[in-house]
Amino acid sequence: MSTNIKTDKNLKKVLIVGANGFLGTNLLRFRTSHDYISQNLDLIAADLDNSNIPSDVQFHKINITNHEQTRKKITKIAPDIVILTAAMTNVDQCEVNKNLATKVNVEGPFNIIKACKKTGSKLIFISTDFIFDGMKKRGYSYKETDVPNPLSYYAKTKYEAELVIFSSGIEYLICRTGVLYGWNEKKLNFITWILNNLEQNKPISIITNQINSPTFIANLAQILLKLVEKEAKGIYHTVGDCALNRYEIALKCADIFEYHKDLITPIDHLEQKAIRPKNASLDITKLKNLLGSELKIFNLDDGLKYMRNFK
Ligand SMILES: NC(=O)c1ccc[n+]([C@@H]2O[C@H](COP(=O)([O-])OP(=O)(O)OC[C@H]3O[C@@H](n4cnc5c(N)ncnc54)[C@H](OP(=O)(O)O)[C@@H]3O)[C@@H](O)[C@H]2O)c1
Repeated sequence: MSTNIKTDKNLKKVLIVGANGFLGTNLLRFRTSHDYISQNLDLIAADLDNSNIPSDVQFHKINITNHEQTRKKITKIAPDIVILTAAMTNVDQCEVNKNLATKVNVEGPFNIIKACKKTGSKLIFISTDFIFDGMKKRGYSYKETDVPNPLSYYAKTKYEAELVIFSSGIEYLICRTGVLYGWNEKKLNFITWILNNLEQNKPISIITNQINSPTFIANLAQILLKLVEKEAKGIYHTVGDCALNRYEIALKCADIFEYHKDLITPIDHLEQKAIRPKNASLDITKLKNLLGSELKIFNLDDGLKYMRNFK
């Protein structure tokens, strides 16, 4: 009998909490790919609503700030793995509504951890490059062993959740990522915002003093599923294979999509509610060593070219 045939026994249940969001929906796209089938993963979705969830995917309504509901639903599903993508992700809004940010980004993960403890599920938590203070010089990126020093309230909540996970005793994988991009009908990201403006010949001003490692969303989803397959544990930096400042990112967008570069003005100051790290680029040597030649980690050119081909 073929070992590739799925039976209920050999299916690994993976519950994606936050499945309606940008990363969640991209993870679900892989449910029918060869990689996914060969891994025997049963991807199950949970979120506040199911507006983006394909009809063939099992969906559960879970509000992670509701302890009882989270515990009951996760106990019933009994997943092998929970991938927690749900969060309050608007960095400036977290500065404005700190109570809600704490509820969603700290108490939410805490409720998930308690449920995972009960069911013996492994937790994969998606964290952020913003937990670092960004004081490293250009040319240097943050490693998993570097000590975080979050500047914004959003980053503080995400790091607090990491600390709770470290001391929880459950099996975990923390994946820190940054500047997710790709086509998204639900909301704009930094790159689709740039592309929209340039396409309409609208001038934009972009800061030169914030460095990131932009991460192509479909590539991140693949990386996460590979880490599931490899049963990776601990902390991994999972970002694009590049470190560019925001102005350079915008220039690359214009270059690859053949829009007018002179629409982009470099600036060195931007009024934002939350402080951003100056250099939030992440070192992915550990990830590269684990993946070897099995999966390419996209740089910005790769991601933008992919987007251009699927416009
Ligand atoms: N986007 C980035 O550039 C970026 C960078 C670094 C790290 N990250 C991390 O990556 C993860 C995924 O980000 P993303 O861009 O996919 O976020 P997203 O698109 O905002 O998705 C988050 C999902 O979680 C849901 N959610 C919010 N509060 C919830 C609650 N109380 N209970 C259950 N679900 C809730 C959201 O629903 P609503 O939309 O209805 O609120 C949304 O569907 C997050 O943990 C984020 O911190 C993202």
